[in-house]
Amino acid sequence: MREFVSGTQMKQLDRYTIQEIGIPSLVLMERAARSVYDTMIKERLPLKKVLVLCGSGNNGADGVALARMLHLSNISVDVEILGNPSHFTTEMKQQIEIAKKYQVAFVKNKSLSEYTTIVDAIFGVGLDREVGGGYKEKIKEINQADAKVVAVDIPSGIDSATGKVLGCAVCADWTVSFAYEKLGTVFYEGAEYAGNVRVADIGIVKMPEICFPISTYTFEEKDLKEKLFRRESGNKGTFGKVLLIAGNEMTSGAALLSASSALHTGVGMVKVHTRKENRAILPVQLPEAMYCFYGKKEIKSEALAESLEWADVVGIGPGLGTNKQAEALLEFVLKYSKRPLVIDADGLNLLKSKLDLLEKYEYPVIMTPHLGEFSRLSGLSIKDWKQQPIELTNELAHRYNVTLVCKDARTVIADGGQNVYVNTTGNSGMATAGSGDVLTGILLGLLAQGYAPLDAAVMGVCVHGLAGDEAAKEKGKYAMVAGDLITYTGDVLKKRG
Ligand code: APR
Repeated sequence: MREFVSGTQMKQLDRYTIQEIGIPSLVLMERAARSVYDTMIKERLPLKKVLVLCGSGNNGADGVALARMLHLSNISVDVEILGNPSHFTTEMKQQIEIAKKYQVAFVKNKSLSEYTTIVDAIFGVGLDREVGGGYKEKIKEINQADAKVVAVDIPSGIDSATGKVLGCAVCADWTVSFAYEKLGTVFYEGAEYAGNVRVADIGIVKMPEICFPISTYTFEEKDLKEKLFRRESGNKGTFGKVLLIAGNEMTSGAALLSASSALHTGVGMVKVHTRKENRAILPVQLPEAMYCFYGKKEIKSEALAESLEWADVVGIGPGLGTNKQAEALLEFVLKYSKRPLVIDADGLNLLKSKLDLLEKYEYPVIMTPHLGEFSRLSGLSIKDWKQQPIELTNELAHRYNVTLVCKDARTVIADGGQNVYVNTTGNSGMATAGSGDVLTGILLGLLAQGYAPLDAAVMGVCVHGLAGDEAAKEKGKYAMVAGDLITYTGDVLKKRG
């Protein structure tokens, strides 16, 4: 698992290390600069002629220290300072003074075409507003240059908490991040601007618990292998029973995708409660599942109650519709189910009028809203979420006492506790109809096999993304469809488990 911090958190850690632990700021800076230098050597960047572009803050000071190290190693290096001298930090002034004594070359507005590598030390985590004026022009020039680009800590122009481009940003080949990766290089657009990210331990104190109410992690392929239970011997009862309430008269596909996906995740049995109109399609397409069909105005409460009792976990929502019947089904489940529950799609759209029942529900719930559904549930805008994805996901999870899977290009998973997860698997080929239905099936499959809700959610989202990555490799991002994710889920689990 990789751990991430926002710029604000990083500043707290910096301050704590300097003021409470007593490591002088210049010592940290020396290590920071050295770590960028080491990366440049190790990654064999073309060092024939290097330009270090520096802002007026401590990111710029890191840059000046780096230039001194390059110069002392007989690498041809120029430094250009873009910031206004009246804004220089104390460390920046000190670094310039030292560099000048070593006769490091300071230049102004030279053509970038002569440089083989450009170091971006313009803004670090101190960027606090849109990039404008001369900075913007220079960043455009960097992005057009042929040189390789190394960003110090974070590419200039990227918001360190959200990944948003603040006006314009440096597009780096490498980013050397100090102490922790920044959230801004996990979320888009920052993830695309950062290039290859290296994390350098520069002696910053590791996460003193007192600092942060929330820690942020990613969960990746290698973590999956550690967490997955071995498939020991057992029978179909051992591997869990899923009840799925899904599919309206015209939306059998959603039910099919979720049910099939649960079965392909290794669950023992799946029963689907769905509309009568799907009788001719679903059992033919998915004979491995069991079915209970209901007519237009009924919910078949007796059969449903029996199925709720039979199942180990219950899923409701994919393709369910939002009519009175769907509402009655959701109400029945929230009143009478005694099992972990996954609520997705239309189930979420109906939830607003059933929040009292959700509050009384005593068993674990996973909810899987995309940002539109998140917005309806929370009353917040998508823009709000983009500004504070970690905090707002965790807050809503806490408010409803559920595990929340907030789906976006970088899905955020939280249960209102101390640890929040950001998923980094998957690709844009997965932005296709039915992809969310497949995720619901995977989550149900994992829950039914005994994983705790937060584990099931974090693992399920990771598996879903890895299946998407396999599908993209085989078929390409344009041609892949949701059904492919089901096919490759099996491959992902086979390889890791
Ligand atoms: N346009 C112009 N100036 C800006 C902008 C902007 N959009 N945003 C911030 N600044 C100015 C600030 O006013 C300040 O002078 O840039 C400076 C802050 O830049 P940073 O160097 O990123 O911030 P600082 O806190 O000094 O240093 C943090 O130091 O520990 C190192 O590299 C590490 O990223 C870290 C950096």
